[in-house]
Amino acid sequence: MSTAISTQNLTKIYEGALRGQDVHALNELSLDVEEGEIFGYLGPNGSGKTTTIKMLLGLIFPTQGTIKIFGNSAISSAAVKKNIGYLPEGAYYPDFLRGEEILSYYGKLYGLRGSDLKKRIDATMDMVGMQHARKRLLRGYSKGMRQRIGLAQALISDPKLLILDEPTTGLDPIARKEIRDILLRLREEGKTLLISSHELLEVELMSNRVGILYNGTLQTIGSVDELLVKREMTVSVDGIDDGIASELSSRGITVEDRTGGRATLRIGSTLSIYDAIELCKSKSLELNSVAPRRETLEELFVRVIGAAEADRR
Ligand SMILES: Nc1ncnc2c1ncn2[C@@H]1O[C@H](COP(=O)(O)OP(=O)(O)OP(=O)(O)O)[C@@H](O)[C@H]1O
Ligand SMILES: [Mg+2]
Repeated sequence: MSTAISTQNLTKIYEGALRGQDVHALNELSLDVEEGEIFGYLGPNGSGKTTTIKMLLGLIFPTQGTIKIFGNSAISSAAVKKNIGYLPEGAYYPDFLRGEEILSYYGKLYGLRGSDLKKRIDATMDMVGMQHARKRLLRGYSKGMRQRIGLAQALISDPKLLILDEPTTGLDPIARKEIRDILLRLREEGKTLLISSHELLEVELMSNRVGILYNGTLQTIGSVDELLVKREMTVSVDGIDDGIASELSSRGITVEDRTGGRATLRIGSTLSIYDAIELCKSKSLELNSVAPRRETLEELFVRVIGAAEADRR
């Protein structure tokens, strides 16, 4: 397996008009994104995600550091660009065009013509489920439909690498899931995806690895499985009532998802799992399952950013 994106000490300082107004947007980022993976690129507003992406695309230039795309450092060359599809943050396309006209325009930018162009428009419309609406004006598209056309635009040259800046922002849960399913299918086809997003659950559900950026510095990077620690145990029980629930709570157990006599107990750090099970037995609760609870990506994010903020102070 080869490396799709490789950066070494990538740094961007936006120069201010006056002395002391420079913005250090990215500091010495050394990052490898492997071919065939979905990489979730995370960080709070202003942490440097879009800046990184623009440098990967050759839209702005690094102050320092190097970039290789599929081993090639000539990232501004047409040969490299053909292999990258890009969905910009808050992509906007003219309202008076039809979906297929947008794709035709971008396809031509990539040098596609005639029947090749027609075939690619057909294939990408199929991929994003927009065949039925391709002749309609963008003016009449919903947000989800616009996002699908944006994705189709990024796919028009059949690129090996997709760089998507917030692909699911502002979409309803169904539309988000549909976009996620499309992205997972693209990975199955062997594409590499770098996705910047604030939708942490989406990222958790689809990424192989994630990196978290804060204030221009990469704070942590790894596979979702590695990074999300399994710190707590959960016990699913039957036979709980208000009295038992409040007693368990007083012993440091969090009672969750209670419906009737059924609930999930989160065993915190104050009690061992053995003691918790003993306690359940003494209350004649029926045990359905005992399982480790994995931290969510949101919890990891809050933990990592919290620590970075504390360091900065
Ligand atoms: N053209 C520019 N000139 C000056 N400063 C800039 C420019 N573009 C971005 N910045 C600054 O660089 C920093 C990183 O911005 P960037 O857009 O990369 O963040 P981001 O992680 O994409 O944030 P968001 O989640 O809000 O999209 C911010 O402090 C921003 O104000
Ligand atoms: Mg951004």
